[in-house]
Amino acid sequence: MRTLVAYYSRSGNTRFVAENIADFLGADVEEVIDKSDRSGPIGWIKSGIHATLELDTEIEKLEYSPSNYDLVILGSPVWNKRITPAMRTYLKKSNFSNSEIAFFNTNDSDKTQNTFGTMKDILEGKEPISTLVLSKALENKKESEKRIRKWCREVKSQVIE
Ligand SMILES: Cc1cc2nc3c(=O)[nH]c(=O)nc-3n(C[C@H](O)[C@H](O)[C@H](O)COP(=O)(O)O)c2cc1C
Repeated sequence: MRTLVAYYSRSGNTRFVAENIADFLGADVEEVIDKSDRSGPIGWIKSGIHATLELDTEIEKLEYSPSNYDLVILGSPVWNKRITPAMRTYLKKSNFSNSEIAFFNTNDSDKTQNTFGTMKDILEGKEPISTLVLSKALENKKESEKRIRKWCREVKSQVIE
C-alpha cells in the first residue's frame, strides 16, 4: 500500500502526529509549507483571521504527487474551528481521484469541530475512509502515540479489505 502523509503544522503538534503515522505505515511525508510568516503573536492573530475568512495562501513547491499513492492521509491544525489556509490551498491544488483518503486534525480542545466537513466539501464530497482527532498531541506524547498506532491499524485494514 503506497501511502502519503501530507500535513501543515505551525508549532509542531501536527508534525508529530504526521511523522508517527508515517513511521507506522512506512509512508512518504509531504510537509505543506506556508510562504506567509505566521510566527509570534502577530502571526497567531493573522492566522486566526485568515482561517476565519477561509483564505487560501501561497505554499512552497510540493515534492510528491498524491495520484501516485493508494492512500493519502491529510492533516491540519484547527484554527478558529476551521482548517488552515495552507491545507485549504493544498486540497484545492491536488488531485486525489486515484487515492483513498483519510483525515486527521490536531487542536487544543476535545470539542468536535467541523474541519473534516470542510475538507470533504473542498474535495467535492469525497469521503475519508477514517478520521482522527488529537488534542494537545505534544503534551501527551505517550497517549497520542497509542491512539495513532490504533488508528493506523484500522486504516490499514480498511484499505487492504
Ligand atoms: C490561530 C490559531 C487558532 C486556533 N484555534 C483553535 C480552535 O478553534 N480550537 C482548538 O481546539 N484549537 C485551536 N488552536 C490550537 C491548535 O489547533 C492546536 O494547538 C494545534 O495542535 C496546533 O498544531 P501545530 O502545532 O501543528 O501548529 C488554534 C491555534 C492557532 C494558532
